[in-house]
Amino acid sequence: MLEAGSDLDLYDGPSPIGEAELAARLQGKHGLVCVLTDRVTANVLDRARDLKVVSNIAVGYDNIDVAAARSRGIVVTNTPDVLTEATAELTWALILAVTRRVVEGDRLVRRRGWKGWALDFMLGTELRGKQLGIIGRGRIGRAVAAKAGAFGMHAVFATRGARTTDLPEMSLDELLVSSDVLSIHTPLSEANKHMIDRRALARMKRSAFLVNTARGPIVDEEALAWALKEHLIAGAALDVYEREPEVHAALLDLENVVLAPHLGSATRETRTAMAELAVKNTLAVLQGRPALTPVG
Ligand code: GLV
Repeated sequence: MLEAGSDLDLYDGPSPIGEAELAARLQGKHGLVCVLTDRVTANVLDRARDLKVVSNIAVGYDNIDVAAARSRGIVVTNTPDVLTEATAELTWALILAVTRRVVEGDRLVRRRGWKGWALDFMLGTELRGKQLGIIGRGRIGRAVAAKAGAFGMHAVFATRGARTTDLPEMSLDELLVSSDVLSIHTPLSEANKHMIDRRALARMKRSAFLVNTARGPIVDEEALAWALKEHLIAGAALDVYEREPEVHAALLDLENVVLAPHLGSATRETRTAMAELAVKNTLAVLQGRPALTPVG
């Protein structure tokens, strides 16, 4: 895709590039293709005088100071659509894993603790007839909802702003109180940091499950560990964390939580499509065309 004469500087270090090295390597560069662990701050952008485009290989872009980029005339792009189905599938994998205790059972078998079939052994929760509450009315939330019927669940969305007519919805508080599975599919913002805190968790049914495949800081991990330990909710399944790759120590000791290592979009098909879209976005801007999927 690159034209002859284009220069490519590939960072393939074992850990995310630090701000200082990123800023240094952006000297004289016109485009940046980055991932969600790269922090593209105002400081970095200040030093990248020639930069015209930042293409995130992710749908979320909370790792980029978009306002700072905009004020410097730098286009920011993300990778929507191509990862919707993979993330929705992973969400369902987590819902099924936590409600049917699949990972807990796997741990038991591996530590040679399984004593055999019994009528009341490792009973889980059936999904049929239950309510799936969805926070976030974007592509991924809707794709998760679209699969709810296959499991006999009915999906309801949290109201956002003015009431719309095309989706079943209720207030966030009503959703907390009435959902059997609550799944988060909203981008991280200043406004929703720790939206799921002690108070919110205490509003949920004791039999309910929380699933987060969006961004870690939306859930207060300390509060979640407390709620799981006190059995204020039945279980949780997380793919994202407040300080990745760190996971709150209290969660690691609990049986009633499934912990995935940020795998939402991690299929060969989707990651390939994401990388291709990011490169196409970069080339479009550098060749003077509009970006395919700009943010903001
Ligand atoms: C993954 O978390 C993404 O935002 O694409």
